[in-house]
Amino acid sequence: MGVVAGRMVVLVSGSGSNMEALADACGRGEVDAGVVAVVADRDCVGLKAADSRGLQIALLEPAGFDSREQWSEALRDLVAGYEPDLVVSAGFMRILAPPFVDAFYGRLINLHPSLLPAFAGAHAVREALEYGVKVTGSTVHFVDRQVDHGPIIMQKPVPVRAGDDEETLHQRIKALEHRLLPEVCRLWFQGRIHLQGRRVEIQER
Ligand code: GRF
Repeated sequence: MGVVAGRMVVLVSGSGSNMEALADACGRGEVDAGVVAVVADRDCVGLKAADSRGLQIALLEPAGFDSREQWSEALRDLVAGYEPDLVVSAGFMRILAPPFVDAFYGRLINLHPSLLPAFAGAHAVREALEYGVKVTGSTVHFVDRQVDHGPIIMQKPVPVRAGDDEETLHQRIKALEHRLLPEVCRLWFQGRIHLQGRRVEIQER
């Protein structure tokens, strides 16, 4: 592999399958970047998976801090220390507070398992099912100060099937996300994603 051009830090809290898909895509040379560190807010499968791959890992639990603000500042400093070009929140189950968001605005993206602005929040898949939508999906967006709200970069649909439960639907959404997230990162490192206010333009080749 040649010299890695771009540096990504991935934030995880859960199984980390999207982090793994992204690292795999980098390994195949599909994204002109590498995952320089994986950071978690809790001990989780994703952190162990990153460790087994030989990626640099860090765990920063909010419990050690007096306030969410202080933890966010520590997280900001930790992540900044890896000098990332792009910070990827992929299944990070903690709200990123202003000190963090402001430090990385425009190079901080989040993956969310619904077609935003529908079903923002931590239970997007369950709520989409309960609402009875026929199509849901996944969104990659820039993170701003409001939860699941920032400028949308790319969205892909997933049909809801009769008989779906939260798990089967989420598995199909994740299968889609494993292609969607690396695709957005690929475009980002090609300099083809342009943020203009709330709108994002993806430059044709
Ligand atoms: C993904 O569905 C993502 O959209 C959501 O959390 C899930 C993370 O899955 N924010 P994993 O940890 O990457 O397997």
